[in-house]
Amino acid sequence: MALFRLKNASFGLIVIIAHLIPTARAGIGYFWHVTDFHYDANLTGAGDCWNGQKKNGGSGSSNQLHQSQHFIQAERFGSYRCDSTWQDSAARWIASPGDDGKNRVHEAVSAVSLLIRRYFPGTVVYPIVGGADVWPRGQTSFSNTAQPYHDLANLWRVWLPPEAEATFKKGGYYVIEQARLQLHLIALNTNYYSEVNYATAENEEMDPGGQFAWFESILLKARRRRGTVYIFGHVPPGIYERHYSRQALHWFQDRFNRKYLSLVQSYSDVIAGQFFGHAHTDSFRVIYDDNGRPISWILLAPAVSPREPGLAEGTGPNNPAIRLVKFNTNNGQVLDYTQYYLNLTEANANGRAEWRRAYNFTQLYKMPDVNPIALHNVAAAMLTHPNVFQNYYTVNHMLRDGLPYCGSLCRQVHFCSATQIDYADYDDCIVTALMASSRSSGISWKRRDAVSTFGLTLICVTLLQFILASLCVR
Ligand SMILES: *[C@@H]1O[C@H](CO)[C@@H](O)[C@H](O)[C@H]1NC(C)=O
Ligand SMILES: *[C@@H]1O[C@H](CO)[C@@H](O)[C@H](O)[C@H]1NC(C)=O
Ligand SMILES: *[C@@H]1O[C@H](CO)[C@@H](O)[C@H](O)[C@H]1NC(C)=O
Repeated sequence: MALFRLKNASFGLIVIIAHLIPTARAGIGYFWHVTDFHYDANLTGAGDCWNGQKKNGGSGSSNQLHQSQHFIQAERFGSYRCDSTWQDSAARWIASPGDDGKNRVHEAVSAVSLLIRRYFPGTVVYPIVGGADVWPRGQTSFSNTAQPYHDLANLWRVWLPPEAEATFKKGGYYVIEQARLQLHLIALNTNYYSEVNYATAENEEMDPGGQFAWFESILLKARRRRGTVYIFGHVPPGIYERHYSRQALHWFQDRFNRKYLSLVQSYSDVIAGQFFGHAHTDSFRVIYDDNGRPISWILLAPAVSPREPGLAEGTGPNNPAIRLVKFNTNNGQVLDYTQYYLNLTEANANGRAEWRRAYNFTQLYKMPDVNPIALHNVAAAMLTHPNVFQNYYTVNHMLRDGLPYCGSLCRQVHFCSATQIDYADYDDCIVTALMASSRSSGISWKRRDAVSTFGLTLICVTLLQFILASLCVR
């Protein structure tokens, strides 16, 4: 339950997709995937910030937010313990934030949206609703009211075509049909499926907002037209890869997780890519058919906000990041992506922000392009090739200094979360691996002893915590 509450501790989430098709080379297109701004209107670069460390229970009300403000010496370009600051003084004309949560959220989203409009006026932007872009956070009750989506639709009218606006106002989802490219961009509102969405968690509704039915109709239409789709969403399905415990951490409610997975499996022939955010980390997921053949993938883009996401204890922060995706405009095939990052330590030390290229997918992993088999091979190599794992692990934290050591359980969690979306399958994956590692003496890792000791220690600590917790309950 503690974890459940910590998961709620996110603020100012928004995903923006800018989609450009330059004419330089016919057949090659690019778009930016930028997510999790977590812009904190009250964070000036010299003031207080919410450090996300609060642990007493509470429902994420605005009261709780107030109590959890801590004074932290924030740095000019942001701090690993804080959300994003407002660096641009030219944009200070934004109204000062109101005190109640709703206004603060609306203003944070407005501020980021206006900034993007101001600096990228000619750019097409496809916004995705994040958990904290509506108020109450994540509480996007379909039965309740469509008001949050109306407000956001007004804010995002410049970007949303009229036909998208209609479904957006209804449920925060829409489709963009690029007729010329036979490529459909589907923007899902996955807040419906989140465990912290009490409205859907507390009833048996199978299709909140009618989104799954709509989603399937679009997939079917794309298949009939022999087109392809990209799926964009904020909260991702599957397991969080940076929570190193036997007990998995996830966001979707189980029934929605299974439903999403089965839709992707049924329509993998038309799905050219799935793009999500929310976790703040750089990772990926592979989806398999019933015979274990890799058939689809999800790319998880790292956050703009450097802050430790508050999703689980000790998961650690990242450097701020933005991603440029390269694709074939004829069939939607994702060819590569370039990941950019800001070395926050350096930026704050030098008083100057210098964004650099962290890596290109094809170069880092030595793969021809982004496809299900390539990603499956990368995931498999994480267990067999320490250098592949180290590369992945470094970019998973977006090249942050001082990475924590990752032992066998940690590695296994990364592998199992990358390859198992279904919660029960994930459990099997972890249990099998733990049993194998406790049994085997044949593993050829040089650091086997240290590695298995670490794994065992973790298990003992988890057990101990469990025992202590049950003693306390009595
Ligand atoms: C945000 O800043 C304003 C002005 O400094 C202050 O009045 C308000 O209490 C702050 N809000 C929170 C939630 O800290
Ligand atoms: C980031 O900057 C710090 C301070 O200059 C430096 O020690 C570190 O190596 C840099 N990290 C990367 C990935 O370049
Ligand atoms: C990697 O990305 C950079 C920047 O987009 C680009 O210049 C370079 O050609 C890419 N490398 C490969 C091998 O695609």
